[in-house]
Amino acid sequence: MDSGERPSWAPGDIDLGRPSIARVYDYWLGGAHNFAVDRAVADKVLADVPVLRSVVLNHRAFLRRAVRFMLARGVRQFLDLGSGIPTVGNVHEIAQAADPSARVVYADIDPVAVAHSRAILTGNESVNVLQIDVRDVEAVVKSPEVRDLLDFDRPIGVLMIALLHFVPDSEDPHGIVAAYRDAVPAGSYLAVSHAGVEEGEWDPAWDDARGTYNRGVSEMTYRSRREVEALVAGFDLVEPGVARLPLWHPESLEDVDDDAHRFPGFGAVGRKA
Ligand SMILES: C[S@@+](CC[C@H](N)C(=O)[O-])C[C@H]1O[C@@H](n2cnc3c(N)ncnc32)[C@H](O)[C@@H]1O
Repeated sequence: MDSGERPSWAPGDIDLGRPSIARVYDYWLGGAHNFAVDRAVADKVLADVPVLRSVVLNHRAFLRRAVRFMLARGVRQFLDLGSGIPTVGNVHEIAQAADPSARVVYADIDPVAVAHSRAILTGNESVNVLQIDVRDVEAVVKSPEVRDLLDFDRPIGVLMIALLHFVPDSEDPHGIVAAYRDAVPAGSYLAVSHAGVEEGEWDPAWDDARGTYNRGVSEMTYRSRREVEALVAGFDLVEPGVARLPLWHPESLEDVDDDAHRFPGFGAVGRKA
């Protein structure tokens, strides 16, 4: 698709000539809400790092496990930050399968993600969608979309799935996570998944892909387990703490192979005491 061709689902104000985080991710997940400019960069990165498809699927699988974990502990309302373009297994599908009255607010900066979320959620009164920069915590928590749906006297499940590696240290990701922690009531949960490796584990074969993505789409900050632990400080982490994503509450032993122990990404769920 060239930039003169705008599909019906694409809002009028988006730049069709620039790749976006959300649309590139959608392409890697096998979705259809992306443009030639997204696919070009996505394919280039994928050629250098073929394991990437499995990496993004692992982030989605972690999202589902984390939401089910929170549901099992009574959480019935969720704030999904950097929610992306809806694809199979969205938070409201998982939550409302467990309890049809469960409430979800999706928040993303990307116009395609927001437009598509609104389109598929029309008529679902327990879900709101908000286009916003989630680094502005006050604007998020005071927004009508959040206030109308979420009860701040009851636990909230806050989700930051594959989000924080887009927030460099210079933009104070620790302060952002802490501000969400302060905003939600005791008993709330936070789930974080994050790209990263332990020190010394970075594979030089990934250098070109990192350069292509950082230049073409967005700068990414890879963090070690210890750095992710620092991000979620102040939450009581549930066992096993910050773990390689496939090793966080795996659903089957088949998921726990050697690759899982080297997986380039971490996940954690914590509870606000
Ligand atoms: C890698 S995608 C993950 C999407 C989704 N969480 C998932 O797991 O499928 C990251 C998302 O974060 C969004 N994002 C990045 N920075 C953001 C910001 N400052 N505010 C809101 N959304 C942001 C992007 O637009 C993108 O949709």
